Amino acid sequence: MANIKCVGILTSGGDAPGMNAAIRAVTRSAIYNDLEVKGIYRGYKGLLTGEITSFKTNNVSNIIQQGGTILKTARCAEFKEAEGRQTAFETMKKEGIDALVVIGGDGSLRGARIFAQEYDIPIIGLPGTIDNDLYGTDTTIGYDTALNTILDAVDKIRDTATSHERLFFIEVMGRDAGFLALNGAIASGAEAAIIPEIDTGVNQLEELIKNGFRKSKNSSIVIVAENEETGGAIGIAERVKKECPQYDVRVTILGHIQRGGSPSAYDRILASRLGVAAIDALLEDQRNVMIGIQNDAIVYVPFTKAIKNEKPINGDLLNILRILSI
Ligand code: F6P
Repeated sequence: MANIKCVGILTSGGDAPGMNAAIRAVTRSAIYNDLEVKGIYRGYKGLLTGEITSFKTNNVSNIIQQGGTILKTARCAEFKEAEGRQTAFETMKKEGIDALVVIGGDGSLRGARIFAQEYDIPIIGLPGTIDNDLYGTDTTIGYDTALNTILDAVDKIRDTATSHERLFFIEVMGRDAGFLALNGAIASGAEAAIIPEIDTGVNQLEELIKNGFRKSKNSSIVIVAENEETGGAIGIAERVKKECPQYDVRVTILGHIQRGGSPSAYDRILASRLGVAAIDALLEDQRNVMIGIQNDAIVYVPFTKAIKNEKPINGDLLNILRILSI
């Protein structure tokens, strides 16, 4: 068994619903296994400023249902520099932290990988992001809740779209990935999704314009993944307004509403499973892996693999959307 006595835990990058459930699971599972736990505040920043507290089981009471993260989160520029990481390592030594559990997305795991390489520290990553863009795990903590938030919003917007016979472009988050947009479109019964994985939004748009947004109905909803290149929903809508003045076009950008709220049952269970698995992994001498879930089984994914590989969109889903939106 690894010679670990104290585990530090932090959340980093964009918050995601279920992060608290993960903090709770890591903390309680560590204590169950006679390990000490320290909560590090504001992501990697806490390792630079020393904002660190000992966690007992009651520090994580009554948080499983809360959105956001009780540890706060941040994107830390100093940690990208070697000097910042050196300070972080010194803080860990001072605090007696032997291992880290990092809950976050792609950027957070990149930070974990380089830190682990430089200082030979056992680090376990948990995929915590609404974007679902980490390779090696079927889903990430927060994705299911965000998807449900999208559905709730789109269902409401549809009332107006139908009543006013309008064409709505609804922009969702995802950074460079279209998982939220594609699955949000299927689940909300939208007519189309414009996602970055299908090369340019413009080509997808051309197809839509050519075929008509919807042949049989006079209102339509198109879910658009945020995208700096195409200008997202605003950019797409501008183009449609010019080329198809017959449509009464409106845009809604869902924004940070997608990151908030109480986690779904799925996310709470996922976060609990991954959190317990993180401590199991450390006790098994695993290091520098992200805990993922594949076909309902826990898997260990080396950081390099999780970060470097692009997670592919399931082509079948695109087809399903096409078939169901006729
Ligand atoms: O990674 C999560 C995410 O919400 C992305 O979907 C989005 O592009 C980004 O973070 C927004 O970040 P911020 O809250 O810093 O504006």
